[in-house]
Amino acid sequence: MSVIELLAKSEFALRTVSSMLPPSLVVRSFTAARNVFLPRFAVDVPRQSFEPPQDQSVNAWGLQFRMPIWNAAGMFKKGHGYEMVAAQGAGAFVAGTTTSRARRGNIVRGIAWPSTQYPLSHSASNWMGLPNEGHATVAARLAKIQKVDACPLVASVSAEPGLEAAVALPELLEGMRRYDDAGVDYIELNESCPNVPGHAGHASVDDELLRRLDTVATQFLAQRRRRLPVVVKLSTDTSLEQLPELIKALVERSFDGVILGNTSTRYNALREQVHPDDRKLFDYFTSMYGGGISGALLRASSLASCAAAVRAVDNCGPHHEFNVIRCGGVAAADDIAASAFVGVHLNQWYVGYFEAFAQHGHDVYRELSACMRPTLARTES
Ligand SMILES: Cc1cc2nc3c(=O)[nH]c(=O)nc-3n(C[C@H](O)[C@H](O)[C@H](O)COP(=O)(O)O)c2cc1C
Repeated sequence: MSVIELLAKSEFALRTVSSMLPPSLVVRSFTAARNVFLPRFAVDVPRQSFEPPQDQSVNAWGLQFRMPIWNAAGMFKKGHGYEMVAAQGAGAFVAGTTTSRARRGNIVRGIAWPSTQYPLSHSASNWMGLPNEGHATVAARLAKIQKVDACPLVASVSAEPGLEAAVALPELLEGMRRYDDAGVDYIELNESCPNVPGHAGHASVDDELLRRLDTVATQFLAQRRRRLPVVVKLSTDTSLEQLPELIKALVERSFDGVILGNTSTRYNALREQVHPDDRKLFDYFTSMYGGGISGALLRASSLASCAAAVRAVDNCGPHHEFNVIRCGGVAAADDIAASAFVGVHLNQWYVGYFEAFAQHGHDVYRELSACMRPTLARTES
């Protein structure tokens, strides 16, 4: 067992006492520990690689994904970690989210990028605010990666929050071109981080979002020199009624898919499902920082959103391949089966991944693979 695996296991075991401690101390210590852990975790390459069975692989956009699941954006913000997840057997690797300018993210009262977990609810909150080194730096790093078969390299990008569209959009396009040059296999356009201005829960299809989509469509999608899919990441809070209009907007503009989705800010609605022993911490974090909720609390909404998105795609009848990716509360083989049942064959995980890593270490995908039935379904072209 590596030191990193041991640390993850120990921290996971200690989580159970967090309800007995003052919430401010839990947030401070969890955040500090996570900031030390993550950079080391990204380079802790296991000695033995795991090769998932061929029949669990999925084909989408002409790309082969060894498993129907891989890390959600935000885990490897600097783009370190490909070698590690590739050795674990992940379906792909996502770097970022990056923005055009390096960002410090949210730092308050000496706490850089406040986060916490809710152990008994298998969930978490973060108010990081997209800290990152910028598209150019991370793209240059990704360009040097030796890719492994069927483990696509992915970049998650966002327009620079808080900038005028006239400046932010050309910078976003420039960043996407850098990732194209770096050889990434698909790009995620993050439109749904609740911790920065300009991103939204998409209660409505607003003009600013459409303007960004139009610009990316005409000045990037229409000018691609190779098959480089671009998918848009929306919030799991996007209302089901709103989804058909959003999906139509994406399909009409030739986007290649949608991810449902990002973290949630439905604090009141989700609070009901928070384990009673986690509620003090939940109330503290959401009232002190706000932030986005992730993990098991999103399981039902991500599945319902994905099912609605699949129906909306069917109704649009796109002439190009358009895939729905599920993200939110995915933690086990049963979740992947539930996704497949509603017609979704691509999944991402964040909170569930770390809970599994704490238990199985670098065997995280090996264990998941053993629990899965063959994913015989393939996405359709
Ligand atoms: C600490 C943390 C940082 C995150 N950073 C990003 C990010 O940079 N970009 C992004 O698109 N999503 C980010 N997310 C959201 C996740 O990618 C994912 O959408 C969300 O956690 C729901 O998935 P889960 O329930 O499997 O955790 C972040 C989530 C967490 C917990």
